[in-house]
Amino acid sequence: VPSAAEGGSIPAAAIAALVTAKPDAVLGLATGSTPLTTWQALAGRGLDLSRVRGFALDEYVGLPAGHPESYRSVITREVVEPLGLTPALVRVPGDDGLPLEGAGDRYESDIHAAGGIDLQILGIGRTGHIGFNEPGSSLASLTRVKTLTEQTRIDNARFFDSVDDVPVHCITQGLGTILRARHLVLLAFGAGKAAAIAAALEGPVSASTPGSVVQLHPRVTVVVDEDAAADLA
Ligand code: F6R
Repeated sequence: VPSAAEGGSIPAAAIAALVTAKPDAVLGLATGSTPLTTWQALAGRGLDLSRVRGFALDEYVGLPAGHPESYRSVITREVVEPLGLTPALVRVPGDDGLPLEGAGDRYESDIHAAGGIDLQILGIGRTGHIGFNEPGSSLASLTRVKTLTEQTRIDNARFFDSVDDVPVHCITQGLGTILRARHLVLLAFGAGKAAAIAAALEGPVSASTPGSVVQLHPRVTVVVDEDAAADLA
């Protein structure tokens, strides 16, 4: 696509088709800057999304409840409220009020009980991460607590007062969790994503580039703008 603004219409159309056929579809939700035009394009369609169920990819560990940059807050502000989702139907890893220990397994069970994720929206980090699966993550990994790389903390410092305020730990769906979704929609916009996109789509499938696991999935839609596509062969 020529730009991120136009890029939102493709995932929005995929979600709209899914929800029209299945009003209680299960969406996998990415946060960050990349999906914003998707949510905007979807809002413009005026669909009833009140029965849609959502599972966020990841969440920071250690932020106080209600912190504006927790992914719970971000999803509420950027997805649930503008799109009219039902708050109780949208989950974030570790949000069940129980101890963090075991939260990953419980999240996996909850995704399974919902019938699995129909469509997973993915962004990609400059480290090649999807979700917060940083390089070195097992290709079969499930939801668990992880440590963010320094690069990702620097990249996400724009949402905080300083890099020191960016949490060190997170809880994220694993690469194996992501691969279980029935349709992956990977989005990347801007020159900063070009190397990660080329490595993920044309490099070897490897834990060094977690996003490369999309090559193992039978149904993937990739939406990139020209800058993010610049390093593709
Ligand atoms: C967010 C997530 C991350 C982001 C990635 C890109 O829930 O799982 O993998 O998709 O860090 O972030 P942005 O879109 O802000 O460039």
